[in-house]
Amino acid sequence: MQNDAELLDHILSHIDNGTTDLGDEDWHEPVANYSSQARFDAERRLMRRLPVPFCPLAALPELGSYVARSSAGVPIVVVRDLDGTIRAFRNACRHRGMQLAEGTGCTKIFRCTYHGWAYRLDGRLEYVPHEHGFPDLDKDNSGLVPVYAVDIRGGLVFVTQDEPVGPGALESLPDLLTDDQVLFDSNESVNDINWKLTAEATLEGYHIKPTHPETFYPYGYDNMNVIEMQGPNSRICFPFRRIEKLRDAPRQNLSLDRMVTVVNRVFPFASVNRLSQHYDVTLAEPESPTRTRYFSYKLTLPIPDGSAPTEEALTRAKKDVAFLASTGNKEDEKVVTDIQAAIGSGANTYYTFGRFESAIAHLHRNLAHYLAQLDELERDIVTIVP
Ligand code: FES
Ligand SMILES: [Fe+2]
Repeated sequence: MQNDAELLDHILSHIDNGTTDLGDEDWHEPVANYSSQARFDAERRLMRRLPVPFCPLAALPELGSYVARSSAGVPIVVVRDLDGTIRAFRNACRHRGMQLAEGTGCTKIFRCTYHGWAYRLDGRLEYVPHEHGFPDLDKDNSGLVPVYAVDIRGGLVFVTQDEPVGPGALESLPDLLTDDQVLFDSNESVNDINWKLTAEATLEGYHIKPTHPETFYPYGYDNMNVIEMQGPNSRICFPFRRIEKLRDAPRQNLSLDRMVTVVNRVFPFASVNRLSQHYDVTLAEPESPTRTRYFSYKLTLPIPDGSAPTEEALTRAKKDVAFLASTGNKEDEKVVTDIQAAIGSGANTYYTFGRFESAIAHLHRNLAHYLAQLDELERDIVTIVP
């Protein structure tokens, strides 16, 4: 990926020449891939076999902080252990399967609310009320069941539930979040939309002028992006017009904060967006071909000297969140809602993505590749276990 100084020169050359980044070819994606239950089920199985961001590390600030939610339909709890280690477990009691944690919080122990079995944050089963009732219980082997792997990369906690089909996003992850960014808001929402339609709406600037004529376009450009791929991930940069003021700025240590919107697609389900006054981390939890739950985290911009954000910066960040929610995000939501409603119209057997939309093609190409890997792995498993 280009650094901010390189990005600036790349953008200025597009401005001067009236150009934008172009992919090599267009892409056709079958509409059935957005509506088929079998395809959706395969995507969810793939999600369990890839490292996927579960939450920003900033959501686990204290010893004992935890986040519990479903990922690919499996209840998972991620916790910062009392020694600081980030761990992830299947969120199910080893007695009769009750979930041990809900939402977010901070705790010293996970105590099951059903019969009171208690687990340390490293997963060990610590206490069983009236233990004499379980003469065969092997306490050492009845701890919480960990996921296959936890990785902390780019300020995100990645969870791989089962043996992965490949490195996925971690093959080559761009810089995403820094330690000094403060989490100031988070929310959960549900949309009756296939997760890929929402992802696609963030991955090109071809729509900026027609879709956002009075909200984003007055501050930005028509169809002008820098599009970069890193592994299966992609990064799309949308410059603001005010970036032209930086034409003669010294390139050393140059920062494009407040001069660009940058969408990082963390393959395939997550997005880390560098916005004008804040960062947004959005994690999709596909629930059906037509329904997606979103977990969204808002963080302050990084501060070059690593100091804490000022009250003023925090106020600006919150205003930025409110501005987007009431303007451009609504316009994007209308687009994807309309597409979802027309998906069964029979008008299209495939959607076409042009050379301006190469990051979308990159997402679909890699998704197809990984689904083929999954298919191969599952066929092997069937062969081994008849
Ligand atoms: S299900 Fe957890 S203690 Fe019984
Ligand atoms: Fe948009």
